[in-house]
Amino acid sequence: MFNNRATINFLEEDQQFHLNNGLISYIFKLSSDGKLLQLYYGKAIPDKDYSYLIEMHHRPMTTYRQENDLLYSLEHLKQEFPEYGTTDFRHPAISLRQENGSKITDFVYLKHEIFNGKPQLENLPATYFENDSEGKTLVITLKDKVTNVEVELLYTIFSDLPVITRSSRVINKGSQVQFIEEIASLSLDLPDADYDWMQLSGAWGRERAVKERPLQQGIQSIESTRGISSHQHNPFVALKRKNTDETSGVVIGTALVYSGNFLIQAEVDTWDVTRLQVGINPFGFQWQLNPTETFTSPEVVLVYSNCGLNQMSQTFHQLFRKRLARGVWRDKDRPVLINNWEATYFDFDEDKLVSIAEKAHDVGVELFVLDDGWFGERNNDHSGLGDWFVNKTRLPRGIGSLAEKIRSIGLKFGLWFEPEMVNKESKLYKEHPDWMIHTPNRKENHGRNQFVLNFGMQEVVDEIFNQMCSIIDESKLEYIKWDMNRPLTDVYDARLESSQQGEVFHRYVLGVYRLYEMLITKYPNILFESCSSGGGRFDPGMLYYAPQAWTSDDSDAIERLKIQYGTSMLYPISSMGAHVSIVPNHQTNRLTPIETRGNVAFFGAFGYELDLNQLTEKEILVVKKQITFYKKYRSVIHNGIFYRLISPFDCDEQAAWMIVSEDKKTAIVAHYKILNKVNQPYKRLYLQGLHSEFVYQNDDQLYSGSELMNVGFIISDASSGQNNEQNIRPETYDFDSRIWVFTQKED
Ligand code: DGJ
Repeated sequence: MFNNRATINFLEEDQQFHLNNGLISYIFKLSSDGKLLQLYYGKAIPDKDYSYLIEMHHRPMTTYRQENDLLYSLEHLKQEFPEYGTTDFRHPAISLRQENGSKITDFVYLKHEIFNGKPQLENLPATYFENDSEGKTLVITLKDKVTNVEVELLYTIFSDLPVITRSSRVINKGSQVQFIEEIASLSLDLPDADYDWMQLSGAWGRERAVKERPLQQGIQSIESTRGISSHQHNPFVALKRKNTDETSGVVIGTALVYSGNFLIQAEVDTWDVTRLQVGINPFGFQWQLNPTETFTSPEVVLVYSNCGLNQMSQTFHQLFRKRLARGVWRDKDRPVLINNWEATYFDFDEDKLVSIAEKAHDVGVELFVLDDGWFGERNNDHSGLGDWFVNKTRLPRGIGSLAEKIRSIGLKFGLWFEPEMVNKESKLYKEHPDWMIHTPNRKENHGRNQFVLNFGMQEVVDEIFNQMCSIIDESKLEYIKWDMNRPLTDVYDARLESSQQGEVFHRYVLGVYRLYEMLITKYPNILFESCSSGGGRFDPGMLYYAPQAWTSDDSDAIERLKIQYGTSMLYPISSMGAHVSIVPNHQTNRLTPIETRGNVAFFGAFGYELDLNQLTEKEILVVKKQITFYKKYRSVIHNGIFYRLISPFDCDEQAAWMIVSEDKKTAIVAHYKILNKVNQPYKRLYLQGLHSEFVYQNDDQLYSGSELMNVGFIISDASSGQNNEQNIRPETYDFDSRIWVFTQKED
């Protein structure tokens, strides 16, 4: 997939950097006093001197860099690494508090380096190259003379994708302690503000809803202050031109590869310049940087599309699937799983689990996942977390014996863990009450009766690792669902100095990454699924460790349309855990046909979350067909190119999307009707991404690709309001859905 088309040119004479891969250009230059001035980011343009783009005007109430000069003010310049208080008044990319209390810095160019390849970020998740020819990296070193602090700005351009990644390293080469109060991984000044800001926001059970608003003078932002990326806001924003839709127009998408507190903001100044900044949330953050130490900021991904949102999403999908997710499961077909959570909650014993597993095997399921409740004294959600050894009351023969039993039925075996948590009713808490995050002499606030372990402490991570290893070895686990069910409160670490308390959130996230890394290194064949009360930590950082995530605790098929549609803005279909659950649905009480529940869950990492023994014979036949369908097409679904066709957010009671295989020979199209209506208008669906000249077959009908994309495909609802014999599909009902497969007809 990659040919090295990436170039990074430095025009010595013009002091200009140009990152280009034939798809995009990113251009900036050095000012005469060593500042980095942003010139252009967008569709690829030729290499030449673009200095003329720098506009300097004398304006009232402006401050200037040089005495006797009334032109050079950072307030009026677009920059790459802005600072506050040295003529710019917008938000900075860095704020460094020094021992004397000053936060004024003046970082200027020291040197740069350009090389093939992409350096790994220490202890942080990031996109990667498989070989150095996949792109190029520019590292610019800036230096503040007074503090002797250096900042390395890392820019990587991918060869064959419209992608640039950014991050920074702050290195204390001075002799004094410095405090990093703000460090944006990306700061990008755009020349105007004619954009709509799109964010993915919501709550537990309704994650990643698409929300938009026009940019306006002032700051617009999303953030997390919860210690996890959160259900409320996903670390992603797109800036869309006004005419941009799914298939056309310019859009810039940005996402932070990080799972903790983040901030994404766009500051539109009074001259309509937009400053887009992405990074760790400065709220609650401060990092003490001792002499010789380095702080690395998480990676930001910047994606450009001039063919609308679908193209932006397809770029994110390809990048995240192939160059963020890692390990054996990156490229492997994901197993059809059954999870017992909604089937049993805490009410299970071995016989019940085995009966579910047996039925699951009969219908073609491949993996059995035992969810919460198998460990410690976990009989409800008041106890047990922290004790990762089997609950003998429930599973008297042990976890190894259950695993063997499940395997003898013919299924793989997986387990749920919530490694970061502790209940006060647990052996772990009794032995180590000080391991729990809390603030001394203050009330301890719980969430779901549980408390958060201080993953900033290596001994905590080691203890949980050892406990998990025993269980993994005993039961030879093939899958782990790693859950996280509450935000962080009372954040404090008594082992750290008072000046280091602003580090606790970030140290926690690094601890979570450390445990993941230890586990995937020791057990490279385990498939990890991340989870945080559904999609509370569905972020690019997690995808580096776990190639799939439980998308939402809301398993209702109709609710899932919006959730999966929003999630698909940047996350690949293969990353979205999607299960068929029982009706009435446990979150909405809604009754939806089992066919529709399958038709929605197909567009994800597919599975079931119900007791199949409770289904009718007729439903079981449907389930068997669903699994056969999914196994036949899962590789197309997971590796194909996804197109959103009709948005469930547009309120027309419908949604549609499709996937086309990379060779364009197969296309799977889905249309979902939400509420039934009477005497409906005629409707066509205009397909996308097909080969115009291929002849496609669906049932006995043949169509050319160009026909399906331009003439459209009839999806009119047969209902006239009277269910009579003349109707081709007489039974119409709420929550109906249809799936069509088009395959190239070879002669
Ligand atoms: C929250 C998860 O999202 C659910 O799927 C389930 O695993 C429960 N936790 C178990 O406590």
